[in-house]
Amino acid sequence: MPDRRPIIAANWKMHHDHHAAIQFVQKLTYIVEAEVYEGLDVVICPPFTDLRSLQTLIESDQLDLALGAQNCYFEDQGAFTGEVSPPMLAKLKVAYVIVGHSERRQRFGEDDEIVNRKVQAVLRHGMAPIVCVGETLEEREGGRTAETVAGQARAAFAGVTKAQFERCVVAYEPIWAIGTGHNATPEDADGTIGVIRSALRDLYGDLADGARIQYGGSVKPGNVADLMAMPEIDGALVGGASLDPDEFARLLRWGR
Ligand code: PGA
Repeated sequence: MPDRRPIIAANWKMHHDHHAAIQFVQKLTYIVEAEVYEGLDVVICPPFTDLRSLQTLIESDQLDLALGAQNCYFEDQGAFTGEVSPPMLAKLKVAYVIVGHSERRQRFGEDDEIVNRKVQAVLRHGMAPIVCVGETLEEREGGRTAETVAGQARAAFAGVTKAQFERCVVAYEPIWAIGTGHNATPEDADGTIGVIRSALRDLYGDLADGARIQYGGSVKPGNVADLMAMPEIDGALVGGASLDPDEFARLLRWGR
């Protein structure tokens, strides 16, 4: 079994302007002990308008944090009013881009084809997509969880080469668990992540065993340790509990 380095990503969604973002990162890095970052990747995904400020802070203070974006468009440039392109993000030293978050799929009409084009565009510019998959409550209650997440994973990675796949991160986010306070049980999340990994094994063989798959959906300081203890779960994509530096710091210290 390859060693998979855990990865915890903060998805701030539409919270924190650039002043608040700087204060957050300064406080977080002040309170989190250096050992916490050993063997762990910590990614901050703020709104676009915060990226430049955080890039400058991370570089000048040499912080052990990676920068992530929450979305991007799939074209490099052009007449796409309001969109932000992958090369613009790469220029800001963005390392990860969340692609296909359920809020994008449900509220902004992103389908599997758009998600696939975004995944390819992010990879083309040297960044790593955090590819989100997850079932609705209706799909879950209809017994279609496995088919939904496997189908989303297959579609998202269409045309992605093995070398590119090695950079990718996947996030399993059951939609019924996002922002609701109802997290999937660790066993349940682990089982579905196993399904996603076996779909990836069909595409990439043994490389799937090295792919990092996060769980997301109401991850909190109080449940992160049980989730991270599961064999298939390699990290967390954290919304609500990533907004307060004290709470996020407690979450990063799981198991200590
Ligand atoms: P939540 O959000 O932690 O607030 O449930 C997770 C996400 O949507 O990434």
